[in-house]
Amino acid sequence: MDFKIVTLPGDGIGPDIVTEAVKVLNKVGEVYGHQFTYDEQMMGGVAIDHKGSSLPKETIDACLAADAVLLGAVGGPKWDNLPNGDRPEKGLLGIRGALKLFANLRPAVLYPQLKHASPLKEEIIGDSLDILIVRELTSGIYFGEKNKVVCEEDDSKTFASDLEKYTVAEIERITRVGFDAAMKRNKKVCVVDKANVLESSRLWRVVVNRVAKDYPEVEYSFMYVDNAAMQLVVNPKQFDVIVTSNIFGDILSDEASIITGSIGMLASASLGEGSLGLYEPSHGSAPDIAGQNKANPIATILSAAMMLRYSLNLDKEANAIEAAVMNVLDAGYRTGDIMSTDMKQIGTVEMGDLITAAIK
Ligand code: NAD
Ligand code: IPM
Ligand code: MN
Repeated sequence: MDFKIVTLPGDGIGPDIVTEAVKVLNKVGEVYGHQFTYDEQMMGGVAIDHKGSSLPKETIDACLAADAVLLGAVGGPKWDNLPNGDRPEKGLLGIRGALKLFANLRPAVLYPQLKHASPLKEEIIGDSLDILIVRELTSGIYFGEKNKVVCEEDDSKTFASDLEKYTVAEIERITRVGFDAAMKRNKKVCVVDKANVLESSRLWRVVVNRVAKDYPEVEYSFMYVDNAAMQLVVNPKQFDVIVTSNIFGDILSDEASIITGSIGMLASASLGEGSLGLYEPSHGSAPDIAGQNKANPIATILSAAMMLRYSLNLDKEANAIEAAVMNVLDAGYRTGDIMSTDMKQIGTVEMGDLITAAIK
Protein backbone atom coordinates (compact mmCIF):
# COMPACT_ATOMS: atom_id res chain seq x y z
CA MET A 1 0.00 0.00 0.00
CA ASP A 2 0.97 3.65 -0.43
CA PHE A 3 1.22 5.94 2.58
CA LYS A 4 1.87 9.65 2.74
CA ILE A 5 4.04 10.72 5.66
CA VAL A 6 4.92 14.29 6.51
CA THR A 7 8.32 14.55 8.19
CA LEU A 8 9.14 17.49 10.45
CA PRO A 9 12.85 17.05 11.28
CA GLY A 10 12.96 20.32 13.21
CA ASP A 11 16.06 21.48 15.05
CA GLY A 12 19.16 20.21 16.87
CA ILE A 13 19.35 16.41 16.72
CA GLY A 14 15.92 16.34 15.01
CA PRO A 15 17.32 15.90 11.46
CA ASP A 16 19.89 13.32 12.70
CA ILE A 17 17.28 11.04 14.23
CA VAL A 18 14.51 11.45 11.62
CA THR A 19 17.00 10.40 8.91
CA GLU A 20 17.55 7.13 10.75
CA ALA A 21 13.84 6.49 11.28
CA VAL A 22 13.16 7.07 7.57
CA LYS A 23 15.91 4.60 6.71
CA VAL A 24 14.22 1.97 8.87
CA LEU A 25 10.79 2.74 7.39
CA ASN A 26 12.12 2.37 3.87
CA LYS A 27 13.46 -1.06 4.71
CA VAL A 28 10.08 -2.00 6.20
CA GLY A 29 8.50 -0.83 2.94
CA GLU A 30 10.87 -2.99 0.91
CA VAL A 31 10.41 -6.11 3.02
CA TYR A 32 6.63 -5.84 3.40
CA GLY A 33 5.74 -4.31 0.03
CA HIS A 34 4.62 -0.81 1.04
CA GLN A 35 5.44 2.54 -0.46
CA PHE A 36 6.09 5.38 2.00
CA THR A 37 6.10 8.79 0.34
CA TYR A 38 7.65 11.57 2.41
CA ASP A 39 6.80 15.23 2.36
CA GLU A 40 9.38 17.12 4.42
CA GLN A 41 8.03 20.30 5.99
CA MET A 42 9.40 22.93 8.33
CA MET A 43 8.38 23.46 11.92
CA GLY A 44 10.17 25.00 14.88
CA GLY A 45 13.37 27.03 14.74
CA VAL A 46 14.16 26.02 11.17
CA ALA A 47 10.76 27.35 10.10
CA ILE A 48 11.34 30.63 11.97
CA ASP A 49 14.63 31.04 10.11
CA HIS A 50 13.30 30.18 6.63
CA LYS A 51 9.61 31.07 6.72
CA GLY A 52 9.32 33.66 9.48
CA SER A 53 7.00 31.52 11.61
CA SER A 54 7.43 28.47 13.86
CA LEU A 55 4.38 26.90 12.23
CA PRO A 56 3.83 27.98 8.62
CA LYS A 57 0.36 27.40 7.17
CA GLU A 58 1.72 25.07 4.48
CA THR A 59 3.06 22.79 7.22
CA ILE A 60 -0.36 22.54 8.85
CA ASP A 61 -2.03 21.92 5.47
CA ALA A 62 0.49 19.22 4.55
CA CYS A 63 0.01 17.48 7.92
CA LEU A 64 -3.77 17.57 7.56
CA ALA A 65 -3.46 15.92 4.14
CA ALA A 66 -1.08 13.17 5.32
CA ASP A 67 -1.65 9.68 6.71
CA ALA A 68 0.75 10.40 9.57
CA VAL A 69 3.38 12.86 10.76
CA LEU A 70 6.87 11.98 12.00
CA LEU A 71 8.63 14.66 14.04
CA GLY A 72 12.21 14.95 15.31
CA ALA A 73 12.42 17.71 17.89
CA VAL A 74 12.35 21.49 18.00
CA GLY A 75 14.00 24.25 19.96
CA GLY A 76 17.37 25.62 20.89
CA PRO A 77 19.02 28.59 22.57
CA LYS A 78 19.13 30.48 19.28
CA TRP A 79 15.36 31.01 19.37
CA ASP A 80 14.77 31.37 23.11
CA ASN A 81 14.33 35.14 23.23
CA LEU A 82 12.93 36.34 19.93
CA PRO A 83 11.56 39.88 20.03
CA ASN A 84 8.25 38.89 18.38
CA GLY A 85 7.52 36.23 21.02
CA ASP A 86 7.50 33.37 18.51
CA ARG A 87 9.55 30.31 19.45
CA PRO A 88 10.01 26.74 18.17
CA GLU A 89 7.98 25.20 21.01
CA LYS A 90 5.04 27.38 20.01
CA GLY A 91 5.06 25.61 16.64
CA LEU A 92 4.95 22.23 18.35
CA LEU A 93 2.01 23.19 20.58
CA GLY A 94 0.37 24.75 17.52
CA ILE A 95 0.57 21.59 15.42
CA ARG A 96 -0.74 19.45 18.30
CA GLY A 97 -3.66 21.85 18.62
CA ALA A 98 -4.29 22.23 14.88
CA LEU A 99 -4.41 18.44 14.39
CA LYS A 100 -6.52 18.08 17.60
CA LEU A 101 -4.14 15.50 19.05
CA PHE A 102 -5.40 15.42 22.60
CA ALA A 103 -3.93 12.07 23.67
CA ASN A 104 -0.21 11.55 24.06
CA LEU A 105 0.87 7.97 24.67
CA ARG A 106 4.35 7.59 26.13
CA PRO A 107 5.36 4.00 26.78
CA ALA A 108 8.20 3.75 29.29
CA VAL A 109 9.52 0.28 28.66
CA LEU A 110 12.68 -1.16 30.16
CA TYR A 111 14.36 -3.50 27.76
CA PRO A 112 16.02 -6.25 29.81
CA GLN A 113 19.25 -5.59 27.90
CA LEU A 114 19.31 -2.07 29.34
CA LYS A 115 18.75 -2.75 33.02
CA HIS A 116 22.34 -1.72 33.72
CA ALA A 117 21.71 1.64 32.09
CA SER A 118 18.90 2.41 34.56
CA PRO A 119 19.98 4.61 37.48
CA LEU A 120 17.71 2.52 39.76
CA LYS A 121 19.05 -0.36 41.85
CA GLU A 122 18.56 -3.76 40.32
CA GLU A 123 16.22 -4.91 43.11
CA ILE A 124 13.89 -2.02 42.28
CA ILE A 125 13.98 -2.08 38.50
CA GLY A 126 14.20 -5.88 38.08
CA ASP A 127 14.36 -7.26 34.55
CA SER A 128 11.53 -5.36 32.99
CA LEU A 129 9.20 -2.46 33.40
CA ASP A 130 6.29 -1.41 31.24
CA ILE A 131 4.41 1.77 32.11
CA LEU A 132 2.16 3.62 29.70
CA ILE A 133 1.82 7.32 30.41
CA VAL A 134 -1.33 8.78 28.89
CA ARG A 135 -0.82 12.51 28.87
CA GLU A 136 -3.56 15.01 27.98
CA LEU A 137 -1.99 17.11 25.23
CA THR A 138 -4.14 19.99 23.98
CA SER A 139 -5.46 21.64 27.12
CA GLY A 140 -4.53 22.47 30.70
CA ILE A 141 -1.94 25.05 31.63
CA TYR A 142 -0.25 24.79 28.23
CA PHE A 143 -3.31 26.08 26.42
CA GLY A 144 -5.14 28.08 29.13
CA GLU A 145 -5.23 31.86 29.00
CA LYS A 146 -1.86 33.55 29.41
CA ASN A 147 -1.40 36.97 30.86
CA LYS A 148 1.43 39.34 31.52
CA VAL A 149 0.84 42.73 33.05
CA VAL A 150 3.82 45.05 33.28
CA CYS A 151 3.64 47.68 36.02
CA GLU A 152 5.75 50.59 34.82
CA GLU A 153 5.64 52.47 38.14
CA ASP A 154 6.62 49.52 40.33
CA ASP A 155 8.23 46.51 38.66
CA SER A 156 7.74 44.39 41.78
CA LYS A 157 4.03 44.43 40.88
CA THR A 158 4.56 43.14 37.35
CA PHE A 159 2.99 39.70 37.03
CA ALA A 160 2.46 36.84 34.64
CA SER A 161 0.00 33.95 34.78
CA ASP A 162 -0.93 30.73 32.99
CA LEU A 163 -4.33 29.19 33.53
CA GLU A 164 -4.79 25.48 34.30
CA LYS A 165 -8.22 24.81 32.85
CA TYR A 166 -10.04 21.60 31.90
CA THR A 167 -13.57 21.03 30.69
CA VAL A 168 -15.51 17.89 31.57
CA ALA A 169 -15.42 16.81 27.91
CA GLU A 170 -11.62 17.13 27.77
CA ILE A 171 -11.17 15.09 30.94
CA GLU A 172 -13.65 12.49 29.81
CA ARG A 173 -12.04 11.80 26.44
CA ILE A 174 -8.49 11.43 27.79
CA THR A 175 -9.77 9.24 30.64
CA ARG A 176 -11.39 6.94 28.08
CA VAL A 177 -8.13 6.68 26.15
CA GLY A 178 -6.38 5.65 29.38
CA PHE A 179 -9.00 3.10 30.42
CA ASP A 180 -9.25 1.66 26.89
CA ALA A 181 -5.48 1.22 26.89
CA ALA A 182 -5.60 -0.42 30.32
CA MET A 183 -8.17 -2.94 29.04
CA LYS A 184 -5.55 -4.16 26.57
CA ARG A 185 -2.86 -4.33 29.25
CA ASN A 186 -2.95 -5.13 32.97
CA LYS A 187 -6.26 -3.35 33.60
CA LYS A 188 -4.79 -0.92 36.12
CA VAL A 189 -5.04 2.88 35.94
CA CYS A 190 -3.47 5.44 38.24
CA VAL A 191 -4.74 8.98 37.75
CA VAL A 192 -2.07 11.45 38.82
CA ASP A 193 -3.18 14.89 39.99
CA LYS A 194 -2.93 17.49 42.73
CA ALA A 195 -6.49 17.27 44.01
CA ASN A 196 -5.43 18.36 47.49
CA VAL A 197 -4.79 21.83 46.05
CA LEU A 198 -6.21 22.26 42.57
CA GLU A 199 -9.88 22.71 41.72
CA SER A 200 -9.17 21.39 38.22
CA SER A 201 -7.80 18.14 39.71
CA ARG A 202 -10.94 17.77 41.83
CA LEU A 203 -13.01 18.00 38.63
CA TRP A 204 -10.75 15.33 37.10
CA ARG A 205 -11.62 13.02 40.00
CA VAL A 206 -15.37 13.52 39.58
CA VAL A 207 -15.17 12.78 35.85
CA VAL A 208 -12.80 9.82 36.23
CA ASN A 209 -15.09 8.23 38.85
CA ARG A 210 -17.97 8.58 36.41
CA VAL A 211 -16.11 7.21 33.38
CA ALA A 212 -14.68 4.32 35.42
CA LYS A 213 -18.19 2.89 35.85
CA ASP A 214 -18.01 1.91 32.16
CA TYR A 215 -14.86 -0.14 32.88
CA PRO A 216 -15.76 -2.39 35.81
CA GLU A 217 -12.77 -4.63 35.13
CA VAL A 218 -10.25 -1.81 35.49
CA GLU A 219 -8.78 -1.28 38.93
CA TYR A 220 -8.12 2.44 39.29
CA SER A 221 -6.66 4.78 41.87
CA PHE A 222 -5.67 8.41 42.33
CA MET A 223 -2.27 9.64 43.40
CA TYR A 224 -0.91 13.11 44.09
CA VAL A 225 1.78 14.10 41.63
CA ASP A 226 4.46 14.74 44.26
CA ASN A 227 3.98 11.25 45.62
CA ALA A 228 3.86 9.81 42.07
CA ALA A 229 7.23 11.40 41.31
CA MET A 230 8.62 9.57 44.33
CA GLN A 231 6.79 6.28 43.72
CA LEU A 232 8.21 6.12 40.20
CA VAL A 233 11.69 5.73 41.65
CA VAL A 234 10.94 3.65 44.75
CA ASN A 235 8.35 1.26 43.33
CA PRO A 236 7.83 1.81 39.58
CA LYS A 237 6.39 -1.69 39.11
CA GLN A 238 3.14 -0.69 40.83
CA PHE A 239 2.15 1.28 37.71
CA ASP A 240 0.47 0.01 34.56
CA VAL A 241 -1.28 2.99 32.94
CA ILE A 242 -0.84 6.51 34.31
CA VAL A 243 -3.42 9.04 33.14
CA THR A 244 -2.60 12.66 33.80
CA SER A 245 -2.77 16.27 32.73
CA ASN A 246 -0.61 17.98 30.13
CA ILE A 247 2.03 19.41 32.47
CA PHE A 248 2.22 16.53 34.95
CA GLY A 249 2.53 14.10 32.02
CA ASP A 250 5.35 16.15 30.54
CA ILE A 251 7.33 16.02 33.76
CA LEU A 252 6.60 12.43 34.77
CA SER A 253 7.39 11.06 31.31
CA ASP A 254 10.96 12.41 31.41
CA GLU A 255 11.32 10.79 34.83
CA ALA A 256 9.83 7.49 33.63
CA SER A 257 12.14 7.51 30.63
CA ILE A 258 15.33 7.80 32.60
CA ILE A 259 14.44 4.92 34.91
CA THR A 260 14.23 2.76 31.78
CA GLY A 261 17.76 3.71 30.82
CA SER A 262 17.65 6.89 28.78
CA ILE A 263 15.37 9.58 27.46
CA GLY A 264 16.75 8.50 24.09
CA MET A 265 14.56 5.37 24.32
CA LEU A 266 11.13 6.93 25.01
CA ALA A 267 8.82 6.99 21.98
CA SER A 268 5.49 8.74 21.76
CA ALA A 269 2.29 8.90 19.77
CA SER A 270 -0.03 11.88 19.76
CA LEU A 271 -3.52 10.90 18.72
CA GLY A 272 -6.93 12.50 18.17
CA GLU A 273 -10.34 11.19 17.14
CA GLY A 274 -9.31 10.00 13.67
CA SER A 275 -6.39 7.96 12.39
CA LEU A 276 -4.03 10.91 11.80
CA GLY A 277 -1.33 10.98 14.44
CA LEU A 278 1.94 12.70 15.17
CA TYR A 279 4.86 10.55 16.25
CA GLU A 280 7.89 11.91 18.02
CA PRO A 281 10.48 10.96 20.60
CA SER A 282 9.70 12.40 24.03
CA HIS A 283 13.08 14.06 24.31
CA GLY A 284 14.10 17.44 22.98
CA SER A 285 16.48 18.75 20.35
CA ALA A 286 19.57 18.11 22.55
CA PRO A 287 21.55 21.06 21.16
CA ASP A 288 24.61 19.86 23.13
CA ILE A 289 25.03 16.82 20.85
CA ALA A 290 23.36 17.97 17.61
CA GLY A 291 25.11 16.99 14.37
CA GLN A 292 27.78 14.96 16.21
CA ASN A 293 26.52 11.45 15.44
CA LYS A 294 25.88 10.96 19.17
CA ALA A 295 22.10 11.05 19.52
CA ASN A 296 20.26 7.84 20.22
CA PRO A 297 17.78 7.41 17.33
CA ILE A 298 15.86 4.55 19.01
CA ALA A 299 13.08 6.72 20.52
CA THR A 300 12.35 8.09 17.05
CA ILE A 301 12.58 4.66 15.42
CA LEU A 302 10.18 3.26 18.03
CA SER A 303 7.91 6.26 17.41
CA ALA A 304 7.88 5.25 13.74
CA ALA A 305 6.80 1.78 14.89
CA MET A 306 3.93 3.40 16.83
CA MET A 307 3.03 5.28 13.65
CA LEU A 308 2.75 2.01 11.73
CA ARG A 309 0.59 0.53 14.48
CA TYR A 310 -1.75 3.43 15.29
CA SER A 311 -2.11 5.45 12.08
CA LEU A 312 -1.31 3.00 9.28
CA ASN A 313 -2.73 -0.16 10.81
CA LEU A 314 0.47 -2.12 10.06
CA ASP A 315 0.83 -4.19 13.18
CA LYS A 316 3.26 -6.83 12.04
CA GLU A 317 5.48 -4.18 10.47
CA ALA A 318 5.50 -2.29 13.81
CA ASN A 319 6.45 -5.53 15.56
CA ALA A 320 9.26 -6.00 13.05
CA ILE A 321 10.78 -2.64 14.01
CA GLU A 322 10.53 -3.42 17.72
CA ALA A 323 12.10 -6.84 17.15
CA ALA A 324 14.92 -5.26 15.14
CA VAL A 325 15.67 -2.86 18.02
CA MET A 326 15.75 -5.79 20.45
CA ASN A 327 18.02 -7.67 18.11
CA VAL A 328 20.59 -4.86 17.94
CA LEU A 329 20.51 -4.37 21.71
CA ASP A 330 20.95 -8.13 22.16
CA ALA A 331 24.03 -7.94 19.95
CA GLY A 332 25.52 -5.46 22.43
CA TYR A 333 25.41 -2.24 20.40
CA ARG A 334 24.80 0.99 22.35
CA THR A 335 24.80 4.72 21.75
CA GLY A 336 26.63 6.74 24.43
CA ASP A 337 23.51 7.48 26.51
CA ILE A 338 22.80 3.75 27.10
CA MET A 339 26.40 2.59 27.14
CA SER A 340 27.59 0.21 29.86
CA THR A 341 30.65 -1.94 30.49
CA ASP A 342 31.49 -4.55 27.85
CA MET A 343 29.09 -3.11 25.28
CA LYS A 344 30.03 -1.76 21.85
CA GLN A 345 29.61 2.01 21.57
CA ILE A 346 28.35 3.30 18.23
CA GLY A 347 26.90 6.50 16.79
CA THR A 348 23.49 7.60 15.51
CA VAL A 349 24.08 6.51 11.92
CA GLU A 350 25.51 3.10 12.83
CA MET A 351 22.57 2.43 15.15
CA GLY A 352 20.16 3.34 12.35
CA ASP A 353 22.03 1.11 9.89
CA LEU A 354 22.07 -1.87 12.26
CA ILE A 355 18.35 -1.61 13.04
CA THR A 356 17.60 -1.24 9.32
CA ALA A 357 19.64 -4.34 8.55
CA ALA A 358 17.82 -6.26 11.30
CA ILE A 359 14.34 -5.67 9.81
CA LYS A 360 12.89 -9.01 8.75
P1 NAD B 1 16.59 17.53 25.82
O1 NAD B 1 15.69 16.35 25.89
O2 NAD B 1 16.82 18.10 24.47
O3 NAD B 1 18.02 17.16 26.44
C1 NAD B 1 18.18 16.76 27.80
C2 NAD B 1 19.44 15.90 27.91
O4 NAD B 1 19.18 14.63 27.31
C3 NAD B 1 20.65 16.48 27.17
O5 NAD B 1 21.80 16.15 27.91
C4 NAD B 1 20.66 15.73 25.85
O6 NAD B 1 21.94 15.60 25.26
C5 NAD B 1 20.10 14.37 26.26
N1 NAD B 1 19.37 13.72 25.17
C6 NAD B 1 18.15 14.07 24.69
N2 NAD B 1 17.81 13.28 23.67
C7 NAD B 1 18.82 12.42 23.49
C8 NAD B 1 19.06 11.35 22.57
N3 NAD B 1 18.18 11.00 21.62
N4 NAD B 1 20.22 10.67 22.68
C9 NAD B 1 21.13 10.98 23.61
N5 NAD B 1 20.97 11.97 24.51
C10 NAD B 1 19.81 12.69 24.45
O7 NAD B 1 15.97 18.61 26.81
P2 NAD B 1 16.42 20.15 27.09
O8 NAD B 1 17.89 20.27 27.09
O9 NAD B 1 15.64 20.55 28.27
O10 NAD B 1 15.83 20.95 25.85
C11 NAD B 1 16.57 21.31 24.69
C12 NAD B 1 15.62 21.96 23.69
O11 NAD B 1 14.67 20.99 23.24
C13 NAD B 1 14.78 23.10 24.28
O12 NAD B 1 14.70 24.11 23.31
C14 NAD B 1 13.43 22.48 24.54
O13 NAD B 1 12.39 23.38 24.52
C15 NAD B 1 13.35 21.51 23.40
N6 NAD B 1 12.45 20.36 23.60
C16 NAD B 1 11.76 19.95 22.50
C17 NAD B 1 10.96 18.82 22.58
C18 NAD B 1 10.23 18.39 21.36
O14 NAD B 1 10.49 18.89 20.28
N7 NAD B 1 9.33 17.45 21.47
C19 NAD B 1 10.89 18.11 23.77
C20 NAD B 1 11.63 18.56 24.88
C21 NAD B 1 12.42 19.69 24.78
C1 IPM C 1 7.59 17.42 25.14
C2 IPM C 1 8.24 18.78 25.21
C3 IPM C 1 7.24 19.86 24.84
C4 IPM C 1 6.12 19.81 25.87
C5 IPM C 1 7.81 21.29 24.75
C6 IPM C 1 9.01 21.36 23.87
C7 IPM C 1 6.75 22.24 24.28
O1 IPM C 1 8.82 18.99 26.45
O2 IPM C 1 7.07 17.07 24.07
O3 IPM C 1 7.65 16.69 26.13
O4 IPM C 1 6.26 20.34 26.97
O5 IPM C 1 5.09 19.21 25.57
MN1 MN D 1 8.82 17.22 27.71
